[in-house]
Parts: sequence; C-alpha cells; structure tokens
Amino acid sequence: MPAAILGVMGGSGVYDLPGMEDVREERIASPWGEPSDALRIGRIGPTTVAFMPRHGRGHRVSPSDINYRANIDVMKRAGVTDLVSLSACGSFKEECPPGTFVLVDQFVDRTHRRESSFFGRGCVAHVSMAHPIGPRLQERLAQAAAAEGIAVSRGGTYVCMEGPQFSSLAESLTYKGLGYTVIGMTNMPEAKLAREAEITYATVAMVTDFDCWHPDHEAVEVADVIKVVRANADKAARLVSRLARDFPAEHEPCPAKSDRALDTAIMTPPEF
Ligand code: ADE
Repeated sequence: MPAAILGVMGGSGVYDLPGMEDVREERIASPWGEPSDALRIGRIGPTTVAFMPRHGRGHRVSPSDINYRANIDVMKRAGVTDLVSLSACGSFKEECPPGTFVLVDQFVDRTHRRESSFFGRGCVAHVSMAHPIGPRLQERLAQAAAAEGIAVSRGGTYVCMEGPQFSSLAESLTYKGLGYTVIGMTNMPEAKLAREAEITYATVAMVTDFDCWHPDHEAVEVADVIKVVRANADKAARLVSRLARDFPAEHEPCPAKSDRALDTAIMTPPEF
C-alpha cells in the first residue's frame, strides 16, 4: 500500500489550515487547467497533509466555476490517497441545527453545468458511486471528533445544487420531503472525480443554516453562512489536526473500493 497522504479541501470560510508545519506552497500544473489555488503541503504530526481552499483564497471562484477536475488532479499528483471535504451546507433536519457537523454518506447530484468526469471520448469508464464515502476514512473522522469532544451526526444525504442562488421555498420543501439531510453547492462532481482518481473521499458537512424551509428561521443569507462557518473554523481545524495526528502511515484499503475504482470500470479496450 502507498504512503498515506491526507488531502483537505477547504470550503466557504476555511481558507487555511492552522497547525501545519514545514509548509511549502506548490503550484502543480494540470492538463485539466487551473486549480482554485496552490496546494499547501505540510505535516501535521507524522502525516503529510495537502490543503486547498476550493473557492481560492479570498473566495473568488464560484461553485459552478470551480475547476473540479484540476483540483482533484493536482491532489492526485501530490500523492493524496484520502481526501477530506470540509463543506458549508444548509440543513433539512430540525435535529441538525447550525453548528452541527454531519458525516454524510450519500450524495444526490442536481448540478447541470459542470465537467464531471476525467473520461469521455477516447477512453470510456463507468466507476461505481453506490458508496461514495470511504467508510474507514469516515470512521477515522468520527473517532477524531470523539477524541476532540466534537459532536458529529453520522450518516445522511447531501444534495448538491448548481447555485449560485440559494433554493426557492418550493425546492427546499421538496428536498426536505425527499428526506435529504443537507444541501450544498460543491461536493458534486468533486466526489465523483475523486472516485475516478481512486482517491478515498469523506465529507464533513458543516451546517450553517436551515436553508429556507424552516418556519421559525429567516431564509438563508450569506452573512449567516459566514458567521457560523467562522465560529466553526477552529472546530474544523481541531478535527483535521487530530485525524492527521492519528492517521496510519500507509493508506488503508478502502472497503468501498474507492482506491481501486478503475479496476472494473474501463470499457474501452487498451488497443483502441
Ligand atoms: N451552503 C451553505 N448553506 C447553503 C444552503 N442553504 N444551500 C446551498 N448551499 C449552502
């Protein structure tokens, strides 16, 4: 098994990862274009960590304009085996109020104007997305949270909308009625591309608001998102820090086969 390298994709409000040592900035070239930012590669405890703010420093890249392929590609080129996605989101559950960290295990993709595959003309592949989250990586996140005294809610479905506008009331009520747990704008196609790149992926969905379905809360506004995410940034940094300090030296084989997803996925024979 290869050496484990932990990637961290920072979402809204998370533009840096305090606690990294020996940090160097690397601008890795990608044939897929420009990533959101340079990778910051350093060490937390014994583990090499590669951090990227998915919206870029200064939050300049909108969800639809993020070059998800380049972001995942440079993580892969940096040797990342396991990727933690820190993501602000709205909640459809009363029991997951703002401030809750949800370790989701499923996604619904409602995006429609994003490049969502490394494959296409020339080489066709169909990876499984049945279990998009690496269960071992998620378990390690849960253990890190417990060790740090950070409450997490385990399981749930993240619906990814195109944005950049927030949902209408009808959309919000529909998603709630369908039983989804949280809503965000970025984890698709990120999770799909991580799977194609055979990188194990797990999301920490950081609830910032109740979207607009909740009769006792105002409809979400950017100020709410920023306020809550800032308040939670320290918690997110502690969580990742503990995860990295306790991370195994070698990548652990993923029960969801995320690290060997291409073994059974490629349709195009090599001679073509
Ligand atoms: N990110 C944070 N809150 C959100 C919401 N309510 N909808 C979509 N993305 C979000």
